[in-house]
Order: sequence, then C-alpha cells, then structure tokens
Amino acid sequence: MMETILIVGSGAREHAIAAALARSAQQPTLICFSGALNPGIAELCSAYGIGSITDATAVTVFASDYRATLAIVGPEAPLAAGVADALWQRGIAVVGPRQSLARIESSKGFARELLAKYCIAGNPFFQRFDSLDGLEAVLERYPHQHVIKDDGLAGGKGVKVCGDHLLSVEDSRRFCKELEMLGHPFVVEEKIEGEEFSLMSFCDGRTLRHMPAVQDHKRAYEGDRGPNTGGMGTYTDADHKLPFLTGEDIAEARAINEKVAAALEAECGMPYQGVLYGGFMATRSGVKLIEYNARFGDPESLNLLSLLETDFVAICRAIADRTLESVPVVFSPRASVCKYLVPEGYPDRPRKGDVVTLPTDVPTGVSIFLSAVNVSDDVLVATGSRTVAVVATAASIAEAETACERVIGEIPGPFFHRRDIGTAAAVAQRIEHMKAVRRACD
Ligand code: AMP
Ligand code: GLY
Repeated sequence: MMETILIVGSGAREHAIAAALARSAQQPTLICFSGALNPGIAELCSAYGIGSITDATAVTVFASDYRATLAIVGPEAPLAAGVADALWQRGIAVVGPRQSLARIESSKGFARELLAKYCIAGNPFFQRFDSLDGLEAVLERYPHQHVIKDDGLAGGKGVKVCGDHLLSVEDSRRFCKELEMLGHPFVVEEKIEGEEFSLMSFCDGRTLRHMPAVQDHKRAYEGDRGPNTGGMGTYTDADHKLPFLTGEDIAEARAINEKVAAALEAECGMPYQGVLYGGFMATRSGVKLIEYNARFGDPESLNLLSLLETDFVAICRAIADRTLESVPVVFSPRASVCKYLVPEGYPDRPRKGDVVTLPTDVPTGVSIFLSAVNVSDDVLVATGSRTVAVVATAASIAEAETACERVIGEIPGPFFHRRDIGTAAAVAQRIEHMKAVRRACD
C-alpha cells in the first residue's frame, strides 16, 4: 500500500518523525499540517497546511484533501482536542490516542486514579481536589514533601514543587487558592526523590514495544539550575538502560506501561494506539510514576528515532492496524546525546529574529533537527523557543557527547545550550545521587 502520511505539528519532534518516515523503503508521501512552517519538515513533504492544529475540522479537511492514509499526531494539544477521533471518523488511521484515552496526559488526576483503580504500582500518595476542602489535612501530613499540579494541560507551568517553587506552606495554600479561583481541579501529591527517566512504548492497544530509556534535562541552565523548559537535551546508553538504573527498574517501568495500556482499554472501551510515554522516577522504594504523556517526548524522540533501525512506516501502520505483535522493533545498540540550542533569554524573555546558520556538512551519526525557526529572505531565523536540536549517536555516551558538541561549535549566534548534558561528570553525578538515594533505605 502506498501510504500518504499526515504529520500534525512542526517542532523538532515532528522534524525527526518526518525524517524517520522519509528513510523508509516504502517511500511514503508525506504531508504536514501545523501552526507554523518548519523548513526542515517542508523539505520532506509534498504539501504543507498552516492552521490551528487543535481545530479537528481543519486538520481532517486537509488530510482528506490530500488523501492521507495514515496520520501521526506529534503534540498533546490536538490529541486532547479530539483530532485523532475526527481523523478516524473520516476513515484515516491515526498513530496517537483518541480524546478519552489522551486523558492519561491531559488530566493528571485521571492518570493517578487509573493506577489506583487498577491496582497498578507506582503512585505516590495523592489526592485530587475541586475545592480547598480537605487541603489542610494533606499539607499537614506532607508539610515539606508535596507537589501541587493543575489537573489539566498547562504547558509545563502547572506543576509546583515544594522546596523549589513553593517555599512555605503559605505559598502552597496560595497556589491552590489560585487554581480554585480559576476553576481548575488540582492534585496534591507526595514529593518523591530519585532520578527521573522516560520510558516510551509503541502501543497498538494489545502489544507494547518498549523503547530505550532516556533522561531529559528540564532546567534551562547547567547543573540543573534555572527555570523549567520543554527539555534542553537528552541521552540514552548503548545498552538501552541508563547508567543509574537497574534491570529491575526498567522491568518495573515496562510493566507499568503494559498495565496502564490494558487499564486504559478497560476504562475507555477502546484500544490505546500510539506512543505511551511514562515519566518515571527511580526511588529508594522502586519506580514511581511522575506523569504520563500520550505522545512522543521532545527531545526524547530525537534520540529514539535516530537509533531506530526498524522501518518506522511499518511500525506506524502496525499501530494503526493493531498488528504490532508481528513487527519486531529494533534500536541500534549505540548511545545517543541530543542538545537543544535556544535563544538568549529563553525561556522567560527569549530574543527573537536572530539568524541561524547551520553547517553545510555534518559527520555521519549526527543530525540536526529544526524547531522554532522561520525562513525570512532565504535565511533561517529563530522565533524565540527551542531553536535547533543536534543529535549524535556513537558507541558510548561520552563519544556521542563529544560529537554533538563539535557540531554545536559550528553553529554561531547568540544561542546557548547545556554543555553538561551527557558529559562524564554529569552522568557520574547522577549515578552517585542514585546510589545515595538507594542507600537511604538500608
Ligand atoms: P510533570 O509536569 O508532572 O512532569 O512535573 C514537572 C516536574 O515536576 C517533573 O519533571 C518532576 O521533576 C517534578 N515532579 C512532578 N511530580 C513530582 C513528585 N511527585 N515528586 C517529585 N517531583 C515531582
Ligand atoms: N521531554 C518532555 C516532554 O516531552 O514532555
């Protein structure tokens, strides 16, 4: 079957998705619909529609006009808005869950309650609130160890951690009051300690194919300081486990994803078809869930798709047809490091309009993916968010880190990135931190 595949979204994640599809021996026709023109994606596509990606009608009309046979939805907002449902209704198969299933990401309380209802391990203590009733008892129980989360999608701004963003119980009360006044339900949960990692699985509702574990770096500055961002960079190791994790940690995280996929089908009465992304923390008492996402991580997907050896079109088709059982999914046994270049001032007051000059040749094993850029008078200009991502794969994390830095060194301009991601010193620090966390249980 000759596929025409619609990609919804236009960040570096969608650029990596387009590049992975374009590598397929099946030579699919690619089309993209998004709010902005990404020149890296446009180069790989035969049609590009600009519009609101949460407008289900606009997306499906574009998909039908170009006779899409399959769609891949990159970001969470269109999934939460029901774009997958609308595409299926038009007879277009989708990689990305329907609205009801996407609540695993769009409602933090739904995710926690699903785990509790189906007796799935991994929840810390949590309570969901619609008002301030009962809040004092929880704050008294966990005065220094709580996290408050807006129940809905808040673009990464809805989570406040005690001791970090919340410096007193009064701060916590104030944040809860703010959420109550906005009419937003919220979740208060126990703050847990350990090392975070992402474990994503391709899922057709029946079969899960797990990807290598990845670690993201959410803070803007080196040493995990500064404001939270969408993610400044990521790494994976050649054995597909991270150096601070045990085989048991990976097995626990995989088991949680498997049980959650089954619970979602039982709860929503339809199969979860897409990427199930567990955001976990390895703690002294096993693996705990931080959050679920209903899509590929960004930047995690840049590492994973660069390592993917299996034909990505075949995987997407198998997710849509629920035949993943017959598709073995293989990732190259190499390490990878991804770093984002971002404008000065990012994330709070980013400069906009700086020219982005990319090297004409990059060595084998290194790729550049475009994110928040535009083309103006034939030059690339930064539009103010994460700008370009450089991904390197190599035999070890250290070699991938060096290769990544070498290419970043060839990109001039007032951009910054985190030099520490994937360095031997930063990785060793995480191993030491995890050892200290595990020792604390003896
Ligand atoms: P989320 O948007 O749920 O991923 O939360 C953003 C960040 O807050 C996570 O990456 C964690 O660093 C932190 N966080 C969220 N929940 C918890 C928790 N229960 N304990 C400790 N840290 C947390
Ligand atoms: N890397 C974090 C995310 O994709 O949500």
